Amino acid sequence: MCGIVGYVGPKDAAPILMEGLRRLEYRGYDSAGIALARANRLKLHKSQGKVQALEAILPERPKGHLGIAHTRWATHGEPSDINAHPHADGAGRVAVVHNGIIENAPELKSELEASGVVFTSETDTEVLSHLIARSDGERLEDAVRSALQRIQGAYGIAVIAGDQPDRIIVARNGSPVILGVGDREMFIASDAAALVRHTQQVVYLNDGEVATVTADGFETSTLDAAPVHKTPVEAPAALDDYDKGGHEHFMVKEIAEQPDTVRRMLQGRLDLRFNSAHFGGLNLTARELIDIERIKILGCGSAYIAGCNGAYVIEQLARIPASAEAASEFRYRNPVIEPNTLYIAVSQSGETLDTLMAVEEIKRKGGRVLGIINVVGSTIARACDGGLYLHAGPEIAVVSTKTFTSTLVGFALLGLYFGRIRDLAPTAGETLIRALQALPDQIQEILDDTSAIETAARFCARARDMYFIGRGLGFPVAQEGALKLKEVSYIHAEAYPASELKHGPLALVTPDTPVVAVLPDDALLDKNLSSVAEVHARKGPVIALTHPGVRCEAADHHVIVPKSVPELDPILIGVALQIMAYHCALILERDIDQPRNLAKSVTVE
Ligand code: AGP
Repeated sequence: MCGIVGYVGPKDAAPILMEGLRRLEYRGYDSAGIALARANRLKLHKSQGKVQALEAILPERPKGHLGIAHTRWATHGEPSDINAHPHADGAGRVAVVHNGIIENAPELKSELEASGVVFTSETDTEVLSHLIARSDGERLEDAVRSALQRIQGAYGIAVIAGDQPDRIIVARNGSPVILGVGDREMFIASDAAALVRHTQQVVYLNDGEVATVTADGFETSTLDAAPVHKTPVEAPAALDDYDKGGHEHFMVKEIAEQPDTVRRMLQGRLDLRFNSAHFGGLNLTARELIDIERIKILGCGSAYIAGCNGAYVIEQLARIPASAEAASEFRYRNPVIEPNTLYIAVSQSGETLDTLMAVEEIKRKGGRVLGIINVVGSTIARACDGGLYLHAGPEIAVVSTKTFTSTLVGFALLGLYFGRIRDLAPTAGETLIRALQALPDQIQEILDDTSAIETAARFCARARDMYFIGRGLGFPVAQEGALKLKEVSYIHAEAYPASELKHGPLALVTPDTPVVAVLPDDALLDKNLSSVAEVHARKGPVIALTHPGVRCEAADHHVIVPKSVPELDPILIGVALQIMAYHCALILERDIDQPRNLAKSVTVE
């Protein structure tokens, strides 16, 4: 979603800010803008559309050694030049960029209008510019603090003023802000992606903190101006992580990284002595785990689907009743929080607002939450009582691929660990460990020959509607296959449990609706083959995702993936479905890394 960049130092700020904005494009946005301070005045340039459109309206060599810039994903007010950030006060003295939502903006706006302030945009952010400009704080940081005392809601902000052109003031409450420490220059951003080209030394702000950033360094404090001491740490990712590395798209690069990301997920977590798993940060003793009676997994989108798979795997391996629910639904239904239920929040970004609110609701009611998160130090990771990181590196494509796979591996590890504390036999643990260790090479095998997947994709790319079916553990991965396909190719795709087909969806099957059938060689294979036969009898074309040795006479296309144990088969089938979605989108010439209307991390309601 929205992105913030800022620079103060001896260099021209504009090229640095524009490059930073391009690094944040992956988050999804619909307008962009920049504010530069020069000769005690601010100059603002804003444009609807891509960063390229902003570039086109900039003067040839925009001057100024201090500036802030923003990519906006519209919430309050349509995407337009006027609604793009930065927002200034009436006199153009102060400029603000803001990620998040100011909940009491309507009341503050009425109050400001009553005292004569004229608003130019429809955004909630403009309230902040006027409040800061009207505050009596002499130093910019004091004015920002006093304005923030009146704000309810979530924010990550950066503020500059024409008459104090040596400083950027940043503040955080629920939306990330990071400082990058250079040599007599400082950078700020909402995402390390915009910093790592310039520095590896970063400082994370916590909620309720404000920083005054000048070329010589930074000072951090609370909203009440109490000093907070912070030391820079090493950035969690390197510049290469944000490049396509020779691939045409980030999506295909991230799919290709999966043998390595799965290896990283397993590293140091397999306990070969006891045929179990171990984790550094669960913060749960075996004795506490014995008392767990139920597991509830929460997440949104692919993270929720990964949770559906995880619930199944944990229940099978550990015999603990487990279920998953969309965090976006859970948070609004006044959920009962049971003392012996363990909650698990799943999030790649660690910033998804619905998931964060679900975690906060559970904690407020005294529950215990573990996180399965990719971004180290993210808001959800910090809100959880413990958990595991995916260590998959930055995921730049809007669609999740490598982090979905690593989350499934994470659930298998948790299932193994919880199972071995309970009734899972050491031999069963050993079998699972061997299967986990084999995964990276099996994924590589899929990546090495994608010809059958590409043939199936050429067939599917012609369709307007498609169905994905699977049974038991095959159903969540069918859901993920349908989600991936619709996100990147815009083909309408729905997933149904194969068992439900004849209870309704079969009415939609025609020769024009390809059906992707997840057909693992497991105990339910015969039942699955019957469902496929029902599709075939209605002349529905079938793409079978299956294992060596399975004969599915009814299928028009076969994609054969390597066999693992039943708990891990969805991981390998999932990789094949990611590749299929990618190739469909490639054929249809879609905007693969930034699909329309979508954002990488959804930090609004
Ligand atoms: C998946 O391809 C999507 N990008 C989306 O469904 C995503 O999984 C969801 O928004 C949750 O994001 P998170 O993992 O960062 O919380």
